[in-house]
Amino acid sequence: MGQIELPLFRVRGMYFSGTGTTEKIVTTVAEGLARAGSRAEDPEAAACSFAKAPDINFTPPAAREQVYRFEPQDIVTFGVPVIAGRVPNVLLPFLNTLEGGGAMAIPVVLYGNRNFDDALIELRDILEAQGFRTVAAAAFIGEHSFSRVLAAGRPDGQDLRIAADFAKAAAAKIEGLAAEAAGQDGGSGQGQPLHEPVEVDGEEPIRPYYRPRDRQGNHINILKVKPKLDAAKCTKCGICVEACPMGSIKPEAPGVVDGICIKCCGCEKKCPEGALYFDDEGYLYHKTELELGYPERKEPNIYL
Ligand SMILES: Cc1cc2nc3c(=O)[nH]c(=O)nc-3n(C[C@H](O)[C@H](O)[C@H](O)COP(=O)(O)O)c2cc1C
Ligand code: SF4
Ligand code: SF4
Repeated sequence: MGQIELPLFRVRGMYFSGTGTTEKIVTTVAEGLARAGSRAEDPEAAACSFAKAPDINFTPPAAREQVYRFEPQDIVTFGVPVIAGRVPNVLLPFLNTLEGGGAMAIPVVLYGNRNFDDALIELRDILEAQGFRTVAAAAFIGEHSFSRVLAAGRPDGQDLRIAADFAKAAAAKIEGLAAEAAGQDGGSGQGQPLHEPVEVDGEEPIRPYYRPRDRQGNHINILKVKPKLDAAKCTKCGICVEACPMGSIKPEAPGVVDGICIKCCGCEKKCPEGALYFDDEGYLYHKTELELGYPERKEPNIYL
C-alpha cells in the first residue's frame, strides 16, 4: 500500500510587543502548536503534521515596511497588545497590507488586567478581512505597560501553562478541521471545510477607544505625553533606540523622544539605568487609578 501524504502546516508566531508580554505568549503558543502537531511518534493517528517556521516580530518600524503573504498551509498565531480597549490604531495601516491567502490564524491579545474590551473581536475581524481563517483565539494578561505593580511579572508560569494547553487544544481542533477537509475531498487533503470565524467576546459595532477620566469625570488626554530623560543617568547605550517601535528615539540622541509616542513603555522599562521617566500629571493619575482600580488577578480567556 502506498504512503498517504499528510497535509503539512507551517506554524509561526507574528507579533507586535513593546515590553515583551505579547511576544512571550505568542511564541509559547506557536511553539506549543508545532510540538502538539508534529506527532511523529503516531503518524497513523494524525490527519496532518506541523513544522515550525521562524516567527515574525513586527515591533521594529522597518519590519512593518514589508508586505507579508501567507498560504493555506500557514498557521499564524497573531498577537498585539490592547491599547485603549482596541487594536493599537498606529498598526492599522500595516495590518491592512497583510495578505492572509487562506492561512489559518489564531488572534491573541495581551491586556494589562483592566479589560480587553473589543480588541480581540477587532483583531479577529481584521485578520478575516485580510484573508485569514481564524480558528481559535485568546486574551491573556500582561504586566501593564504603565506600571510595575499592575499584573506584575505576567505572563507568569501559570499563564504560560495555560498558553501551552491552549496550543494543544488548538492543534487538536486544526487536526479535526484537516480530517474534515480530507473527508470532503475523498482523501486528497486539498478540501476546505466551511469556515466560520472563531467566536470571541466583544461588541459589534466595535466601541470607541477607552478614554481615562480625572476625579471630576473629565477626559484625560495623554496623546502627547512622552517619557523624559534624566541625562545625568544616561550612558548612551542605545537600548531605547532599538526598543522604540515608532522609531522616535534617534541614534544621534539616545534617550530623547523626538516623534510619535504610543506610551508602550518599552524604552522606559528596558533602560538599564532608569534614566527615562514620565512626569505628566494626567498620565500619573491614570496609572495610579488603574493600579488601585484593578488589583484582582484576571485569568486568560480562551476561544476554540
Ligand atoms: C497606551 C496604552 C493603553 C493601554 N490600554 C489598555 C486597556 O485598555 N486595557 C488594559 O487592560 N490594558 C491596557 N494597556 C496595557 C497593555 O495592553 C498590556 O500591558 C500589554 O501586556 C502590553 O503588551 P506588550 O508587553 O506586548 O507591549 C495599555 C497599554 C498602553 C501602552
Ligand atoms: S536605554 Fe537608558 S541609558 Fe541607554 S541610551 Fe536610552 S536612556 Fe540612555
Ligand atoms: S518613546 Fe514612546 S513609543 Fe517609543 S519606546 Fe518609548 S514609550 Fe514606546
